[in-house]
Amino acid sequence: MRKVSALYPGSFDPPTNGHLDLIERGAKIFEELVVGILRNTEKSPMFSLAERLEMLKTLTAHLKNVRIEAFHGLMVEYAKSIDATCVLRGIRAVSDYEYELQMALMNRKLEPTLETVFMMPADKYSYVSSRLVREVAQIGGPVKGLVPEVVEQKLREKLEPAYKFHDEMQEATARSSGAKEKKRKRKV
Ligand code: PNS
Repeated sequence: MRKVSALYPGSFDPPTNGHLDLIERGAKIFEELVVGILRNTEKSPMFSLAERLEMLKTLTAHLKNVRIEAFHGLMVEYAKSIDATCVLRGIRAVSDYEYELQMALMNRKLEPTLETVFMMPADKYSYVSSRLVREVAQIGGPVKGLVPEVVEQKLREKLEPAYKFHDEMQEATARSSGAKEKKRKRKV
């Protein structure tokens, strides 16, 4: 039988546990899985292409049939250039479906021989997106369990002032509610 190579394209800004879950599932069913990071010149990403490449390479080092690459231009053309016959995309909830369907059909129009395959990540990641992770992290909020530890560390490094401010506010709130509780107990 023919070897099936798949392309999993995306922005991965940053990679989440949902992405990693999908990569691991994809690696089990395709002989070869290429994770293609879009080099998007319009958007200004939080993580540079080099950072995203490095993170994903580290995270998938244990998967021997997975390769991490960057691409630009039309995804279908890139898929063809690497001999991928399938495109892997994740669907977390019904809300993803409309956009994914539109994209899959447009890609089919552009390249009829390329099949899009949808897979669902574990339900515990069904609400996790790079956009929400960025939003929480930019305010210094906890992203533990949403992204792999290496990504969490990178977010902390990149957004150090936000995390410092958030931690200080938390400590101040804890101190003030502790003082109030002491005062209340003295009155009783
Ligand atoms: O992780 P994302 O941002 O949802 O991934 C979207 C991505 C990169 C798969 C999509 O924007 C894409 O394929 N871009 C490359 C340009 C292209 O081929 N556009 C036509 C898509 S129908």
